[in-house]
Amino acid sequence: MLINIVFYFSLTSFNFEPNYSFEKQKKMAFELPKLPYEYDALEPHIDARTMEIHHSKHHNGYTTKLNGAIAGTELEGKTIEEILKGATSQSGAVRNNGGGFYNHCLFWEIMSPNGGGNPNGELAALIDESFGSFDAFKDAFSNAAATQFGSGWAWLCYNNGKLEVCGTANQDNPLMDGIGCNGIPILGIDVWEHAYYLNYQNRRPDYINAFFNVINWDKVSENLNNAK
Ligand SMILES: [Fe+2]
Repeated sequence: MLINIVFYFSLTSFNFEPNYSFEKQKKMAFELPKLPYEYDALEPHIDARTMEIHHSKHHNGYTTKLNGAIAGTELEGKTIEEILKGATSQSGAVRNNGGGFYNHCLFWEIMSPNGGGNPNGELAALIDESFGSFDAFKDAFSNAAATQFGSGWAWLCYNNGKLEVCGTANQDNPLMDGIGCNGIPILGIDVWEHAYYLNYQNRRPDYINAFFNVINWDKVSENLNNAK
């Protein structure tokens, strides 16, 4: 009788909880996000073909390679922010593809077909406080983007109550330790040639000017609130 009872409870616990530990062990892979607008939505400022290749080839490639680089390692299952923090001491595959994944996720979100104009509210006030004026910020950001040698990004970051502009090479990101560019990025521009060459060729400053016509300041304000 006792044996039967033990057997019964063993069986029921097996039947009711067989997948529990399996579910806990399952790691979620990073996924390429859908764009919040169509590929042609940012024209004429950013052309549809560039957007399609940029998203479906480049960003997709970073995402796939990031998943491959962390599979079976202690990084699997961590958030992208956790991975980026220590990425400078990881392999090039983790650093480059982790940055590439995060940077482009942010990039698509801070652009909109209804973008452009000026920021408002708290973001506008903090830009004025940090740079003196919106035009002074625009000059600093555009200069960082134009003078980033080779491939990279220019950023607007929230850092200890202030906003700062900085640039990073390749797919590096301000969230990475020891990158020389601190704070939490709330706005970024991709200045890799793949972001503009089809339409602008070598005229990176024209692309930077055009980018200001599609900045989604509402999203940048949201990023600021989340960064604080
Ligand atoms: Fe890119």
